[in-house]
Order: sequence, then C-alpha cells, then structure tokens
Amino acid sequence: MNTVKTLRELRAAVTHARSAGKRIGFVPTMGNLHEGHATLVTKAAQQADFVVASIFVNPLQFGANEDLDKYPRTLAADQEKLLQAGCNLLFAPTVEEMYPGGMTGQTRVSVPHLSEGLCGASRPGHFEGVATVVSKLFNMVQPDIAVFGQKDYQQLAVIRAMVHDLNMPIQIIGEPTVRAEDGLALSSRNGFLSGQERAIAPVLYRSLSHIAAAIKAGDHDFVSLRAEQVRQIEAAGLRLDYLEVRHGVYLRPATAQDKDIVILVAAFLGNTRLIDNLHLNLN
Ligand code: PAF
Repeated sequence: MNTVKTLRELRAAVTHARSAGKRIGFVPTMGNLHEGHATLVTKAAQQADFVVASIFVNPLQFGANEDLDKYPRTLAADQEKLLQAGCNLLFAPTVEEMYPGGMTGQTRVSVPHLSEGLCGASRPGHFEGVATVVSKLFNMVQPDIAVFGQKDYQQLAVIRAMVHDLNMPIQIIGEPTVRAEDGLALSSRNGFLSGQERAIAPVLYRSLSHIAAAIKAGDHDFVSLRAEQVRQIEAAGLRLDYLEVRHGVYLRPATAQDKDIVILVAAFLGNTRLIDNLHLNLN
C-alpha cells in the first residue's frame, strides 16, 4: 500500500489503476482507525478492484470549541490497519494541500433540511464542512463507489442527498455499525473515555434497543418511549443532547404510519460527545 500526500500523486496513481480497467472504491476517514473503519475498507475491497482511503482531519467540520487539536493523529498504526483490510492507496494530505487558498474563501457545499436539527443543531456548520470536504475528496479521487459508516447516520443522509442533488456518478454504500460486546458503538472518541465512563457508555445502546423493541412490538407512543429512556440516560450520568425517533430517510419526526424509522441519540459523557442510532425497517 502506497501513501501519498499530494493531489498530483493521488491523481497519477488513480489514473494508472483506472487505465488498467480497475473499478475505484473510496473510504474517507479522519484517521485514528478502529475495527469499524476496517469493515468499510473490507467492503470497498469486495465491491471495487482498487481501494483508496483518505486520512484528513478536516478543520472545516470542527466548531471553535470542539476537539480539532486533540483529535488523535496515529498515522503509522492507521497505515498498518488499512493494509490489513485490503487498502491499495492512502491519501493523507496536509491542510495546505486540501485548502491551498485557506478556508475562509473556500467554496462550500451545503445540504439544507437534512443538515439542520440533530447533530446540526449543536454543531452549527458541521455538515457544511463535511459536505464540502467529501465533495472535494470525491473530485480528487473520482471513485465509482464510496463506503461510509451508518454510525454517522445524519452524515450518511447528507452525503446521499448531496450525491443525488449534484448528480455525482458515485454509488454510496452505508455499512452497519460495529459494536463492542457490551453494545457500545466503536468510535475514535471512545478513546477519550475514562474507565468509569467507558463502563457507563453502553446505556446509550440499551436505550436505543429498548425503544426499538417497543416499536417493533407495535408501541407508537414515541413521546413516552423517549421520556422513559431520557430518564435512564440521565440517571446513568450522561448529559443528553438529543434522543429522537425519526423517519429513516427524511429525518423528520416519525409518525405511527412510518415503516422506515431511525432512533438517534447524542449525549455527553464527561467532555466526550457520543452518538449512536438504530435503524428499523418495519416492512
Ligand atoms: O466520518 C468522518 O470521519 C468524516 O466526517 C469524513 C466523512 C471523513 C469527512 O471528513
């Protein structure tokens, strides 16, 4: 697996693969990779002949008081994991390579409605930063397929809408969340949790599972289901950002008639913000 840092080298390597008739798969990441990322690369390797991954901690998607500076940079370990998972090329650009003219004058991509509410409410500008960097990366790599984790459910919805609305000829694949044995969704941010916090964190998945089981059993009283689990999460010592039962595609509040439902949660445990979701197809 080669690692390249410049757009020129990236383009040369991808052009070479494409001229050999290879289908290009792409997995964008911010590094600090875990088993969840490895499944994205494995999926890309199943669906494409040449897999490109990127590692870029994108300043444009971090708010002023978010964890940009303390976001872990673990390039050597990440390279090893990517290699094991079947990646062919790693693109690890600098901020200057991605934003040569600086960030203030950078053209932005914004996806209205889907970017508002949920994580968009507490992280203003976040999804614009994500959509902008992902569209730049798509234009740089020009993949046939791109694989994203379903753990960032709203991000995946925003990217699917962007690809549709801007007619990007890229197939987007969403991969199921990888969980620890106790249910906690794998996340680069789990590394910030103390031992005690890590023991508490699975309450989020338990709450999502309770609501999902009740809905599957025909309970449509989303208000009461939510209120009961808000109490559980807060009693465990987390500060809730949101817990919502939404339509699985449009992310508007779910109704009793909906068959495609997603339950989404975000909460702070100490200073660490954790997110998770469970998708239900009731058809
Ligand atoms: O999910 C992530 O790691 C990031 O938001 C992404 C998609 C790589 C864009 O920076």
